[in-house]
Amino acid sequence: MIILGIETSCDETAAAVLQKTADRVKILSNVVASSAKLQAKYGGVIPEQAAREQIKSMIPVIEAAISESQLTINDIDAIAVTYGPGLIGSLLVGVETAKTLAIVWDKPLIPVNHLLGHFYANWISQSHYPKFPCIGLLVSGGHTDLVLFQDHSKYKYLGGTRDDAAGECFDKCARLLGLPYPGGPAIATLASKGNPNAFDLPRPMIHSKDLDFSFSGLKTAVANLLKEVKAELTVADLAASIEAAIADVLIAKTIRAAQTFKVDQIIVAGGVAANQKLVTELQSAINHLPPTIRLSVPPVNLCTDNAAMIASAAFFQKPVKNPLNIQADPNLSLLNYS
Ligand code: KG4
Ligand code: ZN
Repeated sequence: MIILGIETSCDETAAAVLQKTADRVKILSNVVASSAKLQAKYGGVIPEQAAREQIKSMIPVIEAAISESQLTINDIDAIAVTYGPGLIGSLLVGVETAKTLAIVWDKPLIPVNHLLGHFYANWISQSHYPKFPCIGLLVSGGHTDLVLFQDHSKYKYLGGTRDDAAGECFDKCARLLGLPYPGGPAIATLASKGNPNAFDLPRPMIHSKDLDFSFSGLKTAVANLLKEVKAELTVADLAASIEAAIADVLIAKTIRAAQTFKVDQIIVAGGVAANQKLVTELQSAINHLPPTIRLSVPPVNLCTDNAAMIASAAFFQKPVKNPLNIQADPNLSLLNYS
């Protein structure tokens, strides 16, 4: 089975061709064109500008993905596309292109929830698939969610952020420190040279019994600190302290979820999963527990937005009967499933 995946939910224009065999999902091509450099100039994504760039690059990106896979259109069994959540202008570029291709090429079309897609980066090129039941932690620019997966089509939303997402917190703190967008990688690079215990930053909701998160207080604490102690402040130390505070909360709640639901598999996904401190410390926290919990984290290039994860998710979903019925849904959430 071979699927062409298309992803345009935010500032990336991405297409990928993946193949599923009996025991693995393999990437044949994975092309991502990003307008991130343009966004960096303005400190964030400008929706109208992102969509305009995507219109220009959508077809060349799909052509590049098919050509790099060394297959032809005839070899492709189905098309998968992100239909939400995301920026409406951006989503429309991908969805309308996918619908048109599905009709012209006479292929089934599989609509994929972008958030669910992030988790499926864990099914790609692994020696073994993640095991159900498992706890999924999604940490991206717009989301911080904990999910209990019983099976591919059966999962339960356990909790999430009440305000800013973890990636958003990285981005906002980076902005306060005068670092470029996206802030996560910029903070991580600086943090590697700093002391994570230099500043006693809050770990919001770390002891709350629920599985929710809150990160806006951390950003405010950083803003206040910058006003108070600007003179003697070492930016690398502050970056390391911010990274440690975010990682501590994510790890504590993920482990609590795994213990509460007695699962022996954790999967992490989303742009913030590219953070090596988070991954190393989560693995180390797991190592201190009974030895049964397995951790899966995608390779760094599959953590941030890409179309390979969308095709991967589609292997485990059903196509729609009529591709024309698919509508972009900017507010789609993980709650839409149960
Ligand atoms: O999943 P993603 O590419 O896009 C969304 O769907 O939101 O996530 C982007 C987020 C940004 O907030 C970015 O700052 C963060 O992921 N990010 C990181 C790292 N790489 C990307 N955060 C921390 N450490 C990183 N290495
Ligand atoms: Zn994403």
